[in-house]
Amino acid sequence: KMLRYYETKSISQKYQKYRPHYPVQLAKDALGSLREKKIDFLLDVGCGGGQSVNIFAPYFHEVLAIDPSENQLKEARSQNKFAHVTYKQGIAEKLPCDNVSVDVITSGTSAHWFDRPKFYEEADRVLKPGGRLVIFGYWSPKIVPLCVSDGDVTRLSGVGTQLLKNTFNKLIFHERHSHVRDKYNQIFGEIPLLNKRRFDNLSTDYTWSLVDAKGMIQSVDSYETYMKSKELELKELSEVKRSARLSELDPSEQFARSLKLFVIVAEKLN
Ligand SMILES: C[S@@+](CC[C@H](N)C(=O)[O-])C[C@H]1O[C@@H](n2cnc3c(N)ncnc32)[C@H](O)[C@@H]1O
Repeated sequence: KMLRYYETKSISQKYQKYRPHYPVQLAKDALGSLREKKIDFLLDVGCGGGQSVNIFAPYFHEVLAIDPSENQLKEARSQNKFAHVTYKQGIAEKLPCDNVSVDVITSGTSAHWFDRPKFYEEADRVLKPGGRLVIFGYWSPKIVPLCVSDGDVTRLSGVGTQLLKNTFNKLIFHERHSHVRDKYNQIFGEIPLLNKRRFDNLSTDYTWSLVDAKGMIQSVDSYETYMKSKELELKELSEVKRSARLSELDPSEQFARSLKLFVIVAEKLN
């Protein structure tokens, strides 16, 4: 039975507000020489709020972005700036495209939710010869404080990192997240297309506060499930702050955050 996640309005709104945007360089590197002229057709699978579509769309004549969640699609449509992008309901296991009709398939931070053997089969069916499957995601090595007024820098920089570690490891970790922790190495291995490579050199840096950190956590689907089952406020935040004796920390205090990206590019040979 298909997994259904990211269905509610609240999770989609949090997703739109607190999830990172990808650097344009990711699209440039993944498309490489294909960018020499405009490419015909892109299919983005598990499009969410349109985060991955936004960096790839400029290189294509036409883009179809699919997701099973109507609420994610609603968020995606409301932020869409491209006339040639269509958002519609669809799933990775049954791509809404003709055989040999797609130049590039992208999937940002979503492949771990798919029934992947079915998805690979479908990708192989719809891709044109020379077409590419681009699968990517991100992980967060550490969060560094941007401005420290006084006190212990090490302890302060540990807060965000600890917060993420504790919440993900203990509270909202879903078995499918192990693929993200593994930086999609297993996924890379299992892709049946013969010509494949990965690159791990890109990262994206931005600033956030403890409020943003909390928002990011709340944008993970399993957080809502956790909340429903336990009926708890995100007490981890205050626990982390207390244990680090940082309850006096201003929630709007800015942190520098670096996300590391892992990108898989697989090509259909013939
Ligand atoms: C973590 S979000 C990624 C959104 C966006 N692509 C990004 O890069 O931020 C994962 C998305 O995958 C979608 N999803 C889950 N199962 C799916 C499936 N079987 N087929 C297609 N999309 C699926 C969810 O609805 C959700 O919007």
